[in-house]
Order: sequence, then C-alpha cells, then structure tokens
Amino acid sequence: MTHFTPKLPDEAPFTPAQRAWLNGFFAGLMGGEAGAAPAAAPVAAEEDFPWHDSALELPERLALAEGRPLARRLMAAMAQLDCGQCGYLCQSYAEAIAGGAESSLGKCVPGGKETSKTLRALMADAPAPASAPIVRAEAAHAPGRLIAEAVFKGAAPLNGEGSAKDTRHVVFDLVGTGLDYRVGDAFGLYASVDPALVDAVIAALGADPDRIVECRGGTAPLRDTLARKLDIARPSDALIELLMRDADASARAALGKIRDGEKDAPLADPDLLDLLLAFPTLRPPLDEMLGALEELQPRLYSIASSPVAHPGEVHLTAGVVRFERNGRARLGVASNFLGGRLAVGDRVRCFVQPAHGFRLPDDPQRPVIMIGPGTGIAPFRAFLEERRATKAPGKNWLFFGDQRAACDFLYRDEIETFQADGTLTRLDLAFSRDQAEKIYVQDRMRAAGAEFWAWLREGAHVYVCGDASRMARDVDAALRDIAAAQGGMDAAAAKSFVQRLTADRRYQRDVY
Ligand SMILES: Cc1cc2nc3c(=O)[nH]c(=O)nc-3n(C[C@H](O)[C@H](O)[C@H](O)COP(=O)(O)OP(=O)(O)OC[C@H]3O[C@@H](n4cnc5c(N)ncnc54)[C@H](O)[C@@H]3O)c2cc1C
Ligand SMILES: NC(=O)c1ccc[n+]([C@@H]2O[C@H](COP(=O)([O-])OP(=O)(O)OC[C@H]3O[C@@H](n4cnc5c(N)ncnc54)[C@H](OP(=O)(O)O)[C@@H]3O)[C@@H](O)[C@H]2O)c1
Repeated sequence: MTHFTPKLPDEAPFTPAQRAWLNGFFAGLMGGEAGAAPAAAPVAAEEDFPWHDSALELPERLALAEGRPLARRLMAAMAQLDCGQCGYLCQSYAEAIAGGAESSLGKCVPGGKETSKTLRALMADAPAPASAPIVRAEAAHAPGRLIAEAVFKGAAPLNGEGSAKDTRHVVFDLVGTGLDYRVGDAFGLYASVDPALVDAVIAALGADPDRIVECRGGTAPLRDTLARKLDIARPSDALIELLMRDADASARAALGKIRDGEKDAPLADPDLLDLLLAFPTLRPPLDEMLGALEELQPRLYSIASSPVAHPGEVHLTAGVVRFERNGRARLGVASNFLGGRLAVGDRVRCFVQPAHGFRLPDDPQRPVIMIGPGTGIAPFRAFLEERRATKAPGKNWLFFGDQRAACDFLYRDEIETFQADGTLTRLDLAFSRDQAEKIYVQDRMRAAGAEFWAWLREGAHVYVCGDASRMARDVDAALRDIAAAQGGMDAAAAKSFVQRLTADRRYQRDVY
C-alpha cells in the first residue's frame, strides 16, 4: 500500500528547522501507528524548538509543542527569553522539572503567573517522575559559575530634573575578582531586601528578628535570612498553599484565587507582607514558612560597557523600580539596592552571565542596527564603545527613545560624541511624551523603512534590547512591516523572512 505523506509547501511561513520538524511529524503520523511520538520522524538529529520565540503568545507556543515529551511542553510554557534569571535556561529548567530535580514551578519571572499556572496544569496531567525524590535544586544548577565580590563605585543618575524616571549609571570595580566579560553579556548580582520591609514582615509574624533559624542547609538570624536568602516580594505557590492548609473555606478560596492570579482575587500579586496583613490568623510554623519560600534570585543587568574601553570595570544602566500596589509603596529589590542602599566601597556578590546569542557580528565590516529605548540602551553603549575601540569599519545605526528629550536622553553627551567621531552612522530618536501623540522607536523604523531595508540587504545585524512585553513585540511587528512594504512580501512571507533573520543570527534580542 502506498502512503501519501503531506509536506508543507515551500512558501509556508516556517524556518527550515520548523519545516523539517513539521514534515517529520506528518511523516510520523502517516507512517507510524496511531499515537506514535514524532520522535520516530527525522527530528531527533536536528531537534529544534519552534516555540522558542519570545514574540509568540503562550497558546501558540503550547500548540507548537503539542505531542512532544513533557519536558518540551513545559519548556514551551516558559517565557523563551533564556534570560538566566531562574538559574537555568528555558530548556534546562523544563528538563529539571520534568525529571524531578526541581520542584519549584514559580522561577520563570518574566513568564509570571501565566507560566507558573500552565506549568502546574501540565504537571497535574503528567505521571509522577520515576526518578529520585523531588528536591530543591538551589544554586546547584549553575555549576562552574564564578561568583566574586565586586566593589561598588557609584550609581550616578542619568535622568535630568523633571523626569518621571530614575535611571542610574552603575559602576563596579572588577579588579582582582577574576570576572571578565564580553559585550552582549549580562551581569548578575545578589541584592538584599529593604530592611524596613524585612522588619515589617517580622513584626507581622510576631517573631524575634534575632532568632537563629535554619534555612537551606545554613543557620542565620531571621532578619538576615529574610533580607538575603528568601524571596519575600514574590511568595511562592507553596507558601500560599501552606497558608491554605490552616484556612477556613472562605480564606482558602480567596488564597486559591490569589495563587492562580484570578481577576477577582482579593489581592493582586501580593508580597509576603500583604498576605500576612490580609490573613492575620494564618501563621503556620515559622520553619515551614521559611521552607516554602523561594530563594531570593540574583538580578541580571545588561552590561553597558566594553572591557576594551573600561578595563577592570563593568558598567550597568539600571532603572530604579518604584510603584504602588495594594495601597503600599513598593521598591524593587535589586534596583533600589543599587540606586539607594549601597555605599561606595561596598562589596557585592556578582557573576557574569554570558550572552546566549547577543553578540556583535564576527565580521567587523557588517552594518549593525540597534534598537534600545529606555534601559535598552545599555548593551548598545557597550557595542558602540567596542566598535570604536576596535576600529570596526561597519556602519552603526541606533534607535533610542524614552519619555522626554530634555530629561530622559540617557547618555546624551556620549551618543553625540559617537555621532561626531563617526562611530554612529545614523541616530533616530523617539521621545514619546514630547508631543500630543506617542512616538516610539518602531514609528521611526517604519518612517526609515527604505534605508532600513537597504541596510538589511547589505547584511546588517539587528539587535533589540529593553522591555519584552510591549516594545519588543511591536518592534518585531515593525520589522515584518518593513519586510512586507520594502520587500514586496505578503504577511506570511514577511514573517518567514524575520524567522530566517533569527535563524541566521542576524536578529538578536536581549529583552526582559
Ligand atoms: C537578561 C536581563 C537583562 C536585564 N537588563 C536590565 C538592564 O539593563 N537594566 C534594568 O534596569 N533592568 C534590567 N533587567 C531587569 C532586572 O534584572 C530587574 O528585573 C529589575 O531591575 C527589577 O528588579 P528589582 O529587584 O529592582 O525589582 P523586583 O523586586 O524584582 O520587582 C520587579 C517586579 O515589580 C513589578 N513591577 C515593576 N514595575 C512595576 C510597575 N510600574 N507597576 C506594577 N508592578 C511593577 C513587576 O512584577 C516586576 O517583575 C534585565 C533582566 C534580564 C533578565
Ligand atoms: N521585569 C522587571 O522586573 C522589569 C524591571 C524593570 C523594567 N522592566 C521593563 O523594562 C522596561 C524598560 O524600562 P525603561 O524604564 O528602561 O523604559 P520603558 O518603560 O520601556 O520606556 C522607554 C520608552 O519606551 C516607550 N514605550 C512604551 N511602550 C512602548 C512600546 N509598545 N513600543 C515602543 N516603545 C514603547 C516609553 O514610552 P511611554 O512610557 O511614554 O509610553 C518610553 O518612551 C519597562 O517597560 C519595564 O516594563 C521590567
């Protein structure tokens, strides 16, 4: 009997690897017995992860992983940024969960509740892992990472008077640390929590701050444990479930909604203090609460300096996070540590997180297009410093934007010097709040579409850094629009063109 195996048409909007996987999947379906895993198809040799694209929405990512093993479906639920914030990459975090080595489903910070909820649903449907008992992986998943103490040299404000923002140029001294980096890498640091918040939590617990507690194999006073070891800003699902254990039906239902991030939950994204204040009768034993909280994760910052231009130093561009939630002022842990609590000369535990695909082209002749509004400017200051210091002959084009030119033009003097000395071939600025209608970097890209397209045809590499949730998606759409308008493509072909740029490592993103 002859089998007809369907194949994707050449014009279908998939990368070669996606096409190979899907064709293999069809072949597996047609040729094998019902329910056979597509592993029988010619997939294994070149396993690619078609869902591994942060521009895709969660349902689309899950659909692309449908029929794959559990670890791959779990991977598709991650934010696909490979940001390293959780201590893993998307693939290794998913594999650790599937294999039973990692029990926490709440580590993907950029994926938020949407990711943790999906992971929980996938795990609920999965058979229990056959391997060893579930243990917390702690920091063991980043073996070989050199953690050293760098000396804080300052965090100068980059915004001018009248700005709504507080962005800092942070400098650390790396001399003698053994840490080194390349442009494109990120810098990780271990911050501590605001002592006022720690004290408020201890008061709500009715505990003694000096009590020596055991936590993750060590002992320390409760105050230090809460300040340095545990994440009290994002209480884990396990902590909420611990509170539910002793709760009456109505408190249990309310906590369930909070855990699941339901729209009608009584608290949205509470921190530990919110929970303790809202449920004053629920006080499980302290050691159980400490055991249920997640470890405080290090925070990552895109490196804003070239080591060639600043030997022995690393520079960062940090936006200080302050906002109000559930009626209380909130301070981002690490950004306020950098922008407020550190004193010059303080030592901070740090590491270098090497870039996963965010590198200047090997060929210095290649043109480079950089799109980095807000703190997204960070790696591009480093790129421009590096291109100047190494006398790379390729052209450089920067798109920068922020709220107002007068107070939010970060690194203005340096950028103008890059222009004046010829390092920066073209600069397009988008100050969103200097006029009645918003103007964003993607508007500038579209307006310069013909030249953008000409640079792409000359082999330009395109880089995007900054906000993942809105900006990077809109910039991605603008890139497709430029391909459609300038390259005469329909929407599917433009999508495929951008996917090809990604596969060729000519479209790289460092978004968060
Ligand atoms: C690879 C990578 C590179 C990064 N590079 C940079 C960089 O160059 N510069 C930079 O500033 N940051 C960068 N970040 C982000 C950085 O790591 C931290 O997440 C950021 O500084 C906030 O950390 P925090 O500890 O101060 O805040 P946290 O205590 O972690 O609180 C942040 C959380 O607060 C909430 N939140 C923040 N703002 C608001 C708001 N306005 N309203 C309501 N809720 C809000 C969000 O839930 C957010 O997740 C990068 C992240 C990654 C993964
Ligand atoms: N996950 C975290 O913990 C964390 C921490 C810090 C920052 N962030 C994110 O990282 C981003 C960077 O913050 P930032 O202060 O450097 O800059 P930002 O808030 O991204 O603002 C920079 C510029 O981008 C504009 N902008 C807003 N929406 C846009 C869109 N859809 N497309 C293009 N541009 C857009 C802003 O305009 P308007 O403001 O006028 O609209 C502003 O002019 C923030 O958006 C924040 O969400 C995340």
